Amino acid sequence: VQSALRRASSSRHLLSRAYSANACPERKVAVLGAAGGIGQPLALLMKLNPLVSHLSLYDIAGTPGVAADVSHVNTRSEVKGYMGEDQLGAALEGSDVVVIPAGVPRKPGMTRDDLFNINAGIVKTLCTAIAKYCPNALVNMISNPVNSTVPIAAEVFKKAGTYDEKKLFGVTTLDVVRAKTFYAGKAKVPVSEVDVPVVGGHAGITILPLFSQAKPLGSNLSEDDIKALTKRTQDGGTEVVEAKAGKGSATLSMAYAGSIFADACLKGLNGVPDVVECSFVQSTVTDLPFFASKVRLGKNGVEEILGLGSLSDFEKEGLEKLKPELKASIEKGIKFAHGN
Ligand code: NAI
Repeated sequence: VQSALRRASSSRHLLSRAYSANACPERKVAVLGAAGGIGQPLALLMKLNPLVSHLSLYDIAGTPGVAADVSHVNTRSEVKGYMGEDQLGAALEGSDVVVIPAGVPRKPGMTRDDLFNINAGIVKTLCTAIAKYCPNALVNMISNPVNSTVPIAAEVFKKAGTYDEKKLFGVTTLDVVRAKTFYAGKAKVPVSEVDVPVVGGHAGITILPLFSQAKPLGSNLSEDDIKALTKRTQDGGTEVVEAKAGKGSATLSMAYAGSIFADACLKGLNGVPDVVECSFVQSTVTDLPFFASKVRLGKNGVEEILGLGSLSDFEKEGLEKLKPELKASIEKGIKFAHGN
């Protein structure tokens, strides 16, 4: 009995050694736009993530303060702040994941596309540097309009010869977070158990929550309930923009959503099996070159793009309706990247 116990304990020891060696490799995460409304709480949430060993906080202003503040939190990662374009290379070098919440947010009455002119240029500059300093990093694009900034990033990387479609992600997690919250409230089910895929893109009607696939089933939802939930998910960003009355758009819920997605990327890189999140990626799920759907994350980024599953008639109609707008936004991004 004793020798069996010894064997078991020594194999447990080996297992735990192997696990700890694999479970927590060094991982550098860079946040670009780290002093902003999203960037600051996102920096804090990434500091709380035990998978991060190095946290790099970059912005054109304000990062020394944010970095000093966040660095006092007694968690694993070493925090460094970088400010101004001449420090961008150092901020990026060696990054495994780069999260980009840089750029201007919406004000009441604006669409995400109204941000295009300013944010497209910012994203182009940042992605040019990513191609140079950390071409293998997984890029999590938060800057709006995501439907255009992701295609811009892809073109910049193609031009630099570093494009890997498995490593570029438009962050649509906030749409999923909202769909889950709103569904849980309406269907009267525990929010922590809810799963709702959200597909398409990340603006207005291009956001298509698939409530027909929502789990768990709760109180019976009528067609009108589903329509109202869909609309509220699509307009969730505008709800916050209006409530903030000129002081910006979603920052706290976005930081939460961004941290969930970055964590999923890190888990995938670390070899954790079955990490699935929705994201706007290069895709063949529809005839559009980019599309958001469930994606399985792995050691090289996108491991598998999951299909849409079966759709209700309402969702099929929504899918056809969103395609022209999403196509135009993608083309606008590509055109910008070529023209500038
Ligand atoms: P913010 O204005 O509070 O912060 C933006 C930060 O970006 C600022 O600190 C600014 O200095 C920085 N910045 C500007 N130019 C830069 C550059 N060239 N390099 C690095 N940093 C630069 O804005 P907020 O609220 O944090 O929003 C950021 C972006 O995220 C906006 O484009 C917004 O539309 C988008 N967003 C995306 C969501 C999504 O679901 N994907 C949800 C909410 C916002």
